[in-house]
Amino acid sequence: MRVVVKIGGSLLQQAGAGESWIHEIQRFVQEEHQVAVVHGGGPAITESLSRAGVAVSFHQGQRITTSEVLGHVVQVLRGQVNAALIVQMSRAGIAAVGLSGVDGGMLQARRLDGPDLGHVGKVAEVNPALIQALWQANMVPVVAPLAMEQGGRGILNCNGDGVAAALAVGLQADLMVFFTERGGLRESPEPGAALVRQIAASDIAQWISSGRANAGMVPKLESARDALRHGVPTVLIGSYYDAFQGSTEFLAD
Ligand SMILES: Nc1ncnc2c1ncn2[C@@H]1O[C@H](COP(=O)(O)OP(=O)(O)OP(=O)(O)O)[C@@H](O)[C@H]1O
Ligand SMILES: [Mg+2]
Repeated sequence: MRVVVKIGGSLLQQAGAGESWIHEIQRFVQEEHQVAVVHGGGPAITESLSRAGVAVSFHQGQRITTSEVLGHVVQVLRGQVNAALIVQMSRAGIAAVGLSGVDGGMLQARRLDGPDLGHVGKVAEVNPALIQALWQANMVPVVAPLAMEQGGRGILNCNGDGVAAALAVGLQADLMVFFTERGGLRESPEPGAALVRQIAASDIAQWISSGRANAGMVPKLESARDALRHGVPTVLIGSYYDAFQGSTEFLAD
């Protein structure tokens, strides 16, 4: 099976939360599946900006990315979060290789329509050759969500969920799993809300417009829907192996 895994940035900051996602990746590798990992890093980027006294601002969940902010984004995602993940995965015996979407011409993006958010993009083209070459060598690529702006003009900051979905489609993955802090989609954003076991892709718009899903859950649901509609047969938020922890499964239209 070809598997694309997204590891949430907030999950990486939780003490002890490393365990469950790393065990799942180990198990995918042991069972000889081909795994590609995409990670986030929102909280670490915000920390770096605050330390430098740079204002943090968002528009509908997307970070407004001036040139100065982009410098922090690249440094934190590639230099800190990606590097720390490679260390953690290597210690667990996983042959992890750190990259970003800029490497090997993997991801090209265009700036978002609407208000000017600066160096923020959405993936427009995927070239899976580098990931396939690493799979051939039995390696696990770990991708920071950066992409080259179409025309080679420079780096764009992309949402990790969107990058994971684009890669899953480009690689014709059999499975996409989002590992995130809340373990799955909940009945509401409130703490303690129950896990939703299944959601139909056609219900996603309603979940978002009603506010039952907000903030970082919005790009996640939209990315899950994109992946399903472009042929990824199984999309989960939560655990693939752990029936007790459970997951939210997306049902195609
Ligand atoms: N119905 C919902 N169920 C679960 N979480 C929800 C819901 N609505 C909103 N959320 C919020 O969505 C967040 C998950 O998105 P977030 O972008 O913060 O995490 P991530 O994508 O895993 O991390 P990163 O963006 O750093 O990669 C949760 O922490 C929660 O606050
Ligand atoms: Mg997110």
